[in-house]
Amino acid sequence: MKKMKAVLCKKYGKPNVLRWAEVNKPIPKADEALVKIYATAVTASDCLLRGLNVPGAHYFPIKQLMKFGMRVFIGFKRPRNPILGLVFSGVIEDNNTNSNFNIGDEVFGFTGVSRATYAEYKCISAKEMESGEVALKPKNASHQEATAIVYGGVLALYFMRNANIKIGQKVLIYGASGANGIAAIQIAKHHGATVTAVCSQKNFELVKSIGADQVIDYTNKKAVNKLEKYNFILDAVGKNKTSPLKIACKHRLTLNGRYASVDDGFLKIKPSYLLKLTTYFETGNFKAVIDKSFSLKNIKAAHEYVEKGHKRGNVIINVV
Ligand SMILES: NC(=O)c1ccc[n+]([C@@H]2O[C@H](COP(=O)([O-])OP(=O)(O)OC[C@H]3O[C@@H](n4cnc5c(N)ncnc54)[C@H](OP(=O)(O)O)[C@@H]3O)[C@@H](O)[C@H]2O)c1
Repeated sequence: MKKMKAVLCKKYGKPNVLRWAEVNKPIPKADEALVKIYATAVTASDCLLRGLNVPGAHYFPIKQLMKFGMRVFIGFKRPRNPILGLVFSGVIEDNNTNSNFNIGDEVFGFTGVSRATYAEYKCISAKEMESGEVALKPKNASHQEATAIVYGGVLALYFMRNANIKIGQKVLIYGASGANGIAAIQIAKHHGATVTAVCSQKNFELVKSIGADQVIDYTNKKAVNKLEKYNFILDAVGKNKTSPLKIACKHRLTLNGRYASVDDGFLKIKPSYLLKLTTYFETGNFKAVIDKSFSLKNIKAAHEYVEKGHKRGNVIINVV
């Protein structure tokens, strides 16, 4: 049996539960393709899963009930699939599906429930391909850039799907410097909105560089006075990250304005999402923001960094 390098999570806990290991290289079944992974990312979601933390669940008994639900869904004592990781960019090495993908194609993806991207290889089923979890990566993107646009990009597209943003409308992105926020700013700009980005002062230049028209510092108590009325507000960092400014935002919608949080319900991926991201990137309308990169072997340090909750954009793991 051929072997591959992977990182295993055999119990819930702090980043030091992650173990570098050699495991059997997966063999694609009749309806699967094998992808050689070049890059993956440590996302905020990976940290929540590894630590069995549920966003927004702080109090008894809601917290315990939600943790129970999470255990049923992902594994009672430990993650059912010990290899974590949601996103990837890589190359198709073998293909037993009837899909349009060919051996040698460079692809990127958001794996949904199957995860397992903290490894050198991963099998992708025909069903996952059909549901839009994999697409040809943007031609002008490196594997690292493709990995950096997929997590925030897909989440932002999903949670902005009902925003119906029109040219000239005002959009506020709360938590604009994370992976989702960076993507949401760029999508809102693509639709012609005037974008206000809420982040801390150290990230003002970053969010302006990807298109934010105005910036507000969530750590400044007086900044509430800077809020206007918005047609759409996105909480891009979820329910675990808040501030008095975030609470005030909720009351600053126009008459028919909409508010959405990335923690309202679960993401459902659509085939159009990765295709849209590819088009945005290839036409120069979407930038990949990479904060730091780590090797797969050093992924524990990446988890420690992401868990602090202050990454700017994305933290990439170089697998090759
Ligand atoms: N519903 C779903 O299906 C689903 C799926 C996946 C993820 N999610 C949600 O998406 C979240 C991940 O988002 P992400 O990866 O974009 O986040 P992230 O990258 O972890 O966010 C990091 C950014 O948050 C900023 N931040 C920290 N505390 C803040 C606060 N109190 N107010 C405003 N900004 C703050 C930090 O900036 P500073 O350093 O300036 O503080 C940093 O740049 C997850 O935590 C989860 O809640 C939902």
